[in-house]
Amino acid sequence: MSVTSRASAPAPLPRHRECPFDPPGAYAELREDGGASRLAFPDGKVGWLLTRHEDVTRLLADDRFSSDRRRTSSPVHAFPVRPDDRRMVGSFIGMDPPEHTRYRRLLSKWFTARGLRGLRPRIEEIVEDHLAAMERAGPPADLVTAFAQPIPSLVICELLGVAYEDRADFQRWATVLLRLGRSEEEVYAARDALWEYMRGLIDAKRQRPDEALLSRLVGGEHGAPGGPGSATAAGLTDEELTGVGLLLLVAGHETTANMLALGTYALLRHPEQSRGVRERPEMIDHAVEELLRYLTIVQFGIVRVAREDLEIAGARVRAGETVVGALASANRDAARFAAPDTLDIAREPGDQIAFGHGVHQCLGQHLARMEMRTAYPALLRRFPTLRLAVPPDEVPLRHDMLVYGVHRLPVTWDRAVG
Ligand code: HEM
Repeated sequence: MSVTSRASAPAPLPRHRECPFDPPGAYAELREDGGASRLAFPDGKVGWLLTRHEDVTRLLADDRFSSDRRRTSSPVHAFPVRPDDRRMVGSFIGMDPPEHTRYRRLLSKWFTARGLRGLRPRIEEIVEDHLAAMERAGPPADLVTAFAQPIPSLVICELLGVAYEDRADFQRWATVLLRLGRSEEEVYAARDALWEYMRGLIDAKRQRPDEALLSRLVGGEHGAPGGPGSATAAGLTDEELTGVGLLLLVAGHETTANMLALGTYALLRHPEQSRGVRERPEMIDHAVEELLRYLTIVQFGIVRVAREDLEIAGARVRAGETVVGALASANRDAARFAAPDTLDIAREPGDQIAFGHGVHQCLGQHLARMEMRTAYPALLRRFPTLRLAVPPDEVPLRHDMLVYGVHRLPVTWDRAVG
């Protein structure tokens, strides 16, 4: 492909979905056109949009791009992260190597498939408890509040050592951060509240350590004493640990919860696929990868900023321009996946990128997979007659949130006789 600076008029990020499970149709045309297209950001700046699988993975693996959220434009928010925002401390999702590497090294051992194995029985128990409570309460139910939200919430709270009883507060604040169209004041108030909450928790862990992850990070690798502002043996100050704790708490909640709810909705609308999940346990790993690909809930993609003038996907990108990698589009690219718009749980898992790609690829992906592999089959087996309790067009969709899904999922089922 020839290198261009694409004269086409910059357009905003495609947002209109024709179907609850498909990304905006406009992406198909952009992929067809090929290469990068000009993107108009709400802050008035102009950058680039990449829609093809090959281009998005290339972007995310290219160290000429930075993840620094103080320099990127957002495809959906009009205001940037304030450059002097001390709340960015410890939020390694917005850092570049080698600083980013320091955090990943410290945390990755807790989040490998092997490191998480011991958690499986507890996840199974949590899932069973919630299903039993749903059954006791009887139909109908909102699957979001009865099942999809509490399971990942309780799991991440226990893993980190956060009081589950506090969830009403931190979920409310996190919702503000993830909702579109809120004011800068609202966002900063919610961030401050979340920050103060986590800062207090880190202090509390110093006073009264427990066995959970935050405490162990506070104590450092060798349990060395720290102190306000001082680095632990693990090399992180209390401020940095606050940022880490917040990132894990917010990322650990919303994402898996929305996959559980939206994934169930998709399965209910594709009965032959849900039968596979219910009746063929050996297919669950494939099914979860396919649901991740098909639904790609990080719906507005991932942003990066060019550190230098460069060329990618046929475009000349200038230093300082933001480039968006549209994950949802990449995961429906026919050049990478056969019949990409079909949900097929028997599909051989390919390199779907719902968890991102490159050095920032989701730290919690094995945890999320473990939760989904446990939760979907357990739900469909416990309630074989599970179905929507409202017409499909009455299911409220999360068009207004950074993480896509459903706000509510009213379901019903036939009670067992006898
Ligand atoms: C990063 C998606 C679950 C923690 C990411 C990224 C994506 C993603 C796309 C890459 C962001 C970027 O490159 O800028 C998802 C999805 C999930 C999920 C779809 C569920 C289905 C979780 C869970 C945790 C978590 C359960 C809890 C620990 C993180 C963290 C990062 C991250 C800490 C930043 C990694 C880094 O910058 O090195 N996630 N995530 N995620 N995710 Fe997840």
